[in-house]
Amino acid sequence: MRVLIIGAGGHGQVVADILMTASRNGGDDYPCGYLDHDEGLWNSAVSELRVLGSVEECARFDHDAVIVGVGDNLTRRHLFDRLSRSLERFAVARHPSAVLSSSCSVRHGSVICAGAIVNTGASIGANVILNTGCSVDHHNVIGDHAHIAPGARLGGDVKIGQGALIGIGAIVLPGRRVGAWTVVGAGAVVTEDLPDGVVAVGVPARALTFKTATLQGRH
Ligand SMILES: CC(C)(COP(=O)(O)OP(=O)(O)OC[C@H]1O[C@@H](n2cnc3c(N)ncnc32)[C@H](O)[C@@H]1OP(=O)(O)O)[C@@H](O)C(=O)NCCC(=O)NCCS
Repeated sequence: MRVLIIGAGGHGQVVADILMTASRNGGDDYPCGYLDHDEGLWNSAVSELRVLGSVEECARFDHDAVIVGVGDNLTRRHLFDRLSRSLERFAVARHPSAVLSSSCSVRHGSVICAGAIVNTGASIGANVILNTGCSVDHHNVIGDHAHIAPGARLGGDVKIGQGALIGIGAIVLPGRRVGAWTVVGAGAVVTEDLPDGVVAVGVPARALTFKTATLQGRH
């Protein structure tokens, strides 16, 4: 399948690299270009791939599927919802070095980066990022639009709410729940359930006093 990548920034380039690497390893999908709102990028090449135009012009360019290559969870959800309404088909980008149990499931539009590990019975939602070298252990449920950042470790039976960000190197102990759109700071250890929409940092993770509604746009 020819896959258009929405977003030519850092994460979009990671998605392009995953698709190119997978394609060289016999995968069926390959990237056919980026779409990006930055006019200055149009018709230029970014990491070996051309930026064709804006997301509004998606239908103009030959493709079979799309994938949103934007790191920020709220923005990624917004673009995903918009493309879903246009009845676009979503690919899954999976790096060949990721290790996925045959009994896990991954929904459309998700990106599994190099070295990620997904254990038995885990359920990965749509439009999720499992970033470099993270591990998602048995029977986890990862909500749509969530992001598990590089090196984060989730114990067994963890539930991550929609749109949550588990920061770089954070740990979530087995069986804990992290609420929707909550941000777990880099290096935190989640020892107790966290509610929706908080920012929690430290060991053990404690919620800061401000909310994440605008904060997610900054990470
Ligand atoms: C937690 C986080 C979201 C806070 O970001 P922020 O709103 O910009 O907050 P600030 O940097 O203003 O920090 C607020 C306070 O929390 C502390 N803090 C920030 N991040 C922290 C962390 N990861 N662990 C412990 N304390 C942290 C700051 O030192 C500051 O403390 P102070 O008030 O005593 O000075 C952010 O620091 C973070 O860890 N983001 C994760 C990023 C990530 O992993 N992204 C994935 C990219 S692939």
